[in-house]
Amino acid sequence: MSSSNLENNKIFAAVLVAGITIMLAGFFADKLVHSEELEEDAFPIEVAEVATGGAPKKAAIADPIADLIAGADLAKGQKLSKACAACHSFDKGGANKIGPNLFGVYNAGKGKKAGFSYSDALIAKGGKWDVDSLNQFLWKPKKYMPGTKMNYAGMKKAADRAAMVKYLQSLR
Ligand code: HEC
Repeated sequence: MSSSNLENNKIFAAVLVAGITIMLAGFFADKLVHSEELEEDAFPIEVAEVATGGAPKKAAIADPIADLIAGADLAKGQKLSKACAACHSFDKGGANKIGPNLFGVYNAGKGKKAGFSYSDALIAKGGKWDVDSLNQFLWKPKKYMPGTKMNYAGMKKAADRAAMVKYLQSLR
């Protein structure tokens, strides 16, 4: 075997090893992908939970709060209103800020506070602010009312929304 043949063999071997490495990498990558697919197979169980009222994360509407309001903590609602205070005043005759004054908003027509320039979305909604509409709006403002000017992420916990609505009811 000439030395150039030996050199060629070495190159061939190197190419072969590289090829095998790539194949193995592909094989393991395939395994990884498949194990991820397996994890996703567990997903329908989660969906089933949602269907029975389980995980609220994927719910399309807020859990109802009507039954929680009687037992809700008014003082807690007042405390929670601090999250709104950057944009809303709550006192009688209080100024409109980024959002309208909220005194007496419960049971009032939507978008009726004098001197506040509401979004078309809020005007178009119509009707009064009752427990159910406030529940949905406070849960996820932009979901309940696409196009609203209220830039507030929302209140996740039903108990918090119940306390908040109870506080709004007390402002009269
Ligand atoms: C970042 C500012 C901001 C925050 C925070 C905020 N709001 Fe608002 N809110 C607004 C604006 C702006 C509007 C008017 C929305 C529109 O016209 O689409 C509004 C409208 C409302 C309305 C309807 C009033 C009416 O006259 O129809 C209610 C009720 C309300 N907010 C309650 C709350 C509550 C309760 C909180 C706290 C949990 C809160 N908002 C937090 C800005 C805010």
